[in-house]
Amino acid sequence: MSALLRVDNLVKHFPIHRHLFGRQTAVVHAVDGVSFELDSGQTMALVGESGCGKSTVGRLLLRLLDATAGKVWFDGKDLMTLSPQRLRRTRRELQMIFQDP
Ligand SMILES: Nc1ncnc2c1ncn2[C@@H]1O[C@H](COP(=O)(O)OP(=O)(O)OP(=O)(O)O)[C@@H](O)[C@H]1O
Ligand SMILES: [Mg+2]
Repeated sequence: MSALLRVDNLVKHFPIHRHLFGRQTAVVHAVDGVSFELDSGQTMALVGESGCGKSTVGRLLLRLLDATAGKVWFDGKDLMTLSPQRLRRTRRELQMIFQDP
């Protein structure tokens, strides 16, 4: 049986610009090669120091951000390449509970 959620080598780099329209001066490696699997009914906690990339992983899974690289499968669907229409439908099954709601 395959996992409900499968994350393979997820990467998110944020380019940093010193000025609004200036050239890129640095890159933040917010998420750098995260992989895990989760079965139906399983709970997983992502723990780490502030700024280590936990929220960014969550935003990538919901496609609130586009990944720099990596793959995410949810219920057999490739979340990173879903059409906008199928993504909208799949979003009903995924949600974020923000800090201090
Ligand atoms: N939109 C963005 N542009 C540039 N850098 C960003 C952006 N979003 C997050 N970052 C950077 O990416 C890194 C990871 O941030 P993230 O918010 O995922 O950390 P976190 O583990 O959720 O931290 P906390 O425990 O404080 O919530 C941090 O260095 C952060 O400054
Ligand atoms: Mg956070």
